[in-house]
Amino acid sequence: MLDHPEADTRSIANLEPVKSDSLLALIELARADERPEKIDVGVGVFRDASGHTPILRVVKEAERRLLEAQDTKAYLGGRGDVRFTELLRAILLGEHASDDRIAGLQTPGGCGALTLGFRLIKAANPDARVLMGTPTWPNHAPIIAGAGLEMIEYPHYDRKERRVCFEALAGAVKSARRGDVVLLHGCCHNPTGADLTPDQWAEVTRLISERGLLPFVDIAYQGFGNGLDADAAGLRGLLDACDEVLAAQSCDKNFGVYRDRVGSLWVKTGSAAATKTAMSHLLQISREFWSMPPDHAAAAVRIVLDDVQLSADWRAELETMRERINSLRRRIASADPKLAYIADQKGMFSMLPLTPEQVLHLRERHAIYMADSGRFNVCGMRDDDVDRFASAVLEVMCG
Ligand SMILES: Cc1ncc(COP(=O)(O)O)c(C=O)c1O
Repeated sequence: MLDHPEADTRSIANLEPVKSDSLLALIELARADERPEKIDVGVGVFRDASGHTPILRVVKEAERRLLEAQDTKAYLGGRGDVRFTELLRAILLGEHASDDRIAGLQTPGGCGALTLGFRLIKAANPDARVLMGTPTWPNHAPIIAGAGLEMIEYPHYDRKERRVCFEALAGAVKSARRGDVVLLHGCCHNPTGADLTPDQWAEVTRLISERGLLPFVDIAYQGFGNGLDADAAGLRGLLDACDEVLAAQSCDKNFGVYRDRVGSLWVKTGSAAATKTAMSHLLQISREFWSMPPDHAAAAVRIVLDDVQLSADWRAELETMRERINSLRRRIASADPKLAYIADQKGMFSMLPLTPEQVLHLRERHAIYMADSGRFNVCGMRDDDVDRFASAVLEVMCG
């Protein structure tokens, strides 16, 4: 018998249910819909012209080689596959790859990298606040809150004008305190597709460095926007200007290995010695969470990037994915001037100016599934679905 009267109300059995993620609920609804004309643009994975999420040919080949050559499953250590990180270094950092003030380690996807990065910030500066443009990827806030950091929100996107609210970002940065964190999407903004222009990157970089803020770049879609180098240009500009920078990277999308979970976290400080110390903290923090990152996808990516031919083939496959996304954007945009803005955006996602009621109407009347916010996955539809998608959207937009 327990002594405390409230003890039995504190048991696991008395936990309140968690409100389920509405996107996950949407995936279930779409799955259950048997209408053959169904268009599921709620889900956040790349799909090819026939609506399939393929395993890249280079990944299949790397897995074949891995299966043949791998002769042990012994622990690798907290940094994961060190060669994987070495090879990724040039792809992400470009001209900064040789800077010994920057170090990276393998993580379980971009989520793992963000978790580690924010915990490192909390350890270094518990009072740091995180400036976060909204709407943003729905997992940012829980990860930041989980690290115990305060958030300051500002609008990233003007739904009416269909553009980045740069004035709001600049205003938030100007009123931040030294040491505050600026979370930025490196490219292919999720959920809006509205990225900063090169001039806006230059301006926000200048403001961040002037005010002594810490930029944290979340780059989960490198190669899906304008190309590997162009998509990392914002991050690289920050590395030019700032002594301290964090970057959370994911290979889950650009290698199509979503469920296998591979990404990396990168840290730049003012000196190689301080970066080494930061890495020791990251290893300590990651040990508490996952001890060591899962190996399989990192090994596959490493095999691809370590082989000249496979690496070239990966770039070609990535280009095919990017081209599909951009050509779908152009097709949807050409349906009507009201949708023209979609061609100027980048990455898999875009946001339609729809109310939740209009989104529901699309679902019920047209079997088109998207998030209540109007976010849709541009490449979630089959090639044959584009015209029907555009005309249904225009029908509900125009009433
Ligand atoms: C902006 C953004 N950051 C991070 C992630 C996390 O990626 P991963 O699946 O590699 O954890 C996602 C995934 O959707 C994302 O959209």
